Amino acid sequence: MAKQKTLHDAFYETLKDVYYAEKQSVKALKKSAKAAEHDELRQAFETHAEESAQQVERLTQVFEIIGKPARAKTCEAMQGIVSEMEEDLEEFEESPAADAVLAACAQAVEHYEIARYGTLKTWAGQLGYAEAAQLLDETLQEEKKTDALLSKIAESINAAGTPEDAEPSKGKGKKAA
Ligand SMILES: [Fe+2]
Repeated sequence: MAKQKTLHDAFYETLKDVYYAEKQSVKALKKSAKAAEHDELRQAFETHAEESAQQVERLTQVFEIIGKPARAKTCEAMQGIVSEMEEDLEEFEESPAADAVLAACAQAVEHYEIARYGTLKTWAGQLGYAEAAQLLDETLQEEKKTDALLSKIAESINAAGTPEDAEPSKGKGKKAA
């Protein structure tokens, strides 16, 4: 009979997943920073790209703590989010909605990461890796802070993205009830 998988196995597998996802997010954030027009948004992307590089480092520490090699496992969820972002970037390039779309994609990334780090932190605690739980929590708090900042910035972008002169064309002005 195949050996029963344990929570420890699940922890290691998820760690490999988020290691891949985090590295992808560093690239995506750098790309987003280049594309962003809005100053605060660009700044938020740049800051979080640096933070995310440290988060990758923190993950290597967690691998060390559990005595396993730091390996990345393709995370299809993050790949999907990033490829949607790339499509959106092309489709909305130089449009008034471009920054809003970028912020939305970044929030999808953050929410994925928040879900993963939340789980990993809990599992680390259950498995008796207090130090790893602490490291994972530091990252979790950074992701939540970034998400909240993006929500705040999105409000000003969305307001800026609906200029007075962008009136709907005649006959299409009324929203469907
Ligand atoms: Fe991250």
